[in-house]
Amino acid sequence: MDLTLKIWRQKNKDDKGALKSYDIKGVSPDSSFLEMMDLLNNNLIEKGENPVAFDHDCREGICGSCSMYINGEAHGPDRLVTTCQLHMRKFKDGETIHIEPWRAKAFPVIKDLVVDRSAFDRVMSAGGFVSVNTSGNTQDANATPIAKAAADKAFDAATCIGCGACVATCKNASAMLFVSAKVSQLALLPQGQVEAQRRAIHMVEQMDHEGFGNCSNTGACEVECPKGISLENIARMNREFLSATITSES
Ligand code: SF4
Ligand code: FES
Repeated sequence: MDLTLKIWRQKNKDDKGALKSYDIKGVSPDSSFLEMMDLLNNNLIEKGENPVAFDHDCREGICGSCSMYINGEAHGPDRLVTTCQLHMRKFKDGETIHIEPWRAKAFPVIKDLVVDRSAFDRVMSAGGFVSVNTSGNTQDANATPIAKAAADKAFDAATCIGCGACVATCKNASAMLFVSAKVSQLALLPQGQVEAQRRAIHMVEQMDHEGFGNCSNTGACEVECPKGISLENIARMNREFLSATITSES
């Protein structure tokens, strides 16, 4: 396949940045999107030019690093896959592909396609944990019975990989799908009850503090989420937050 790539190039967070055009030839339809980017970068390095900076790690849909906005969609045109799982056969020979970083105030661009997602880490530090007794009398986790339906829902929420596609897709740059998945995965389990009230309040407060927008129930985040995280989690987080603000002292 021969393609034209229009890629966002930005030297650093203070640079204005612009789309730059690159022609690439001989791309295998069976290669992944990131392998196509590797090929482009090899060509650029051979010509003595700066390769395109992009985030990646696992390349198997687990780590959530490969954040790219491709032809106006987070993680590109396929559904329920990350950019590293996207294959070039989803595009046509001769096509022009636009590749941009996530755009959100809380995710500043560091370089080219790489954004700073440490805001998610700070939201997690604010409440995305459970207390565990480490006195030596720690109870085996499997000793606590959990209803199958609750375990399944908690597991579904826990599949969120923190990629940020929900934020990039949302017209309000809201992080509520991400935060609600993290609140839900713990709120649904008995082990998560100790900090349940503080968790909902502190994580929502940190989310607002980081500059993420609010949810206006459009649902675009759910459509573009590579892990199919459900909007049902946002409703659960809203319930948790409301009940915590009425009854909590913190
Ligand atoms: S909710 Fe989905 S889109 Fe948002 S961070 Fe988690 S996996 Fe990514
Ligand atoms: S590189 Fe890890 S999810 Fe894509």
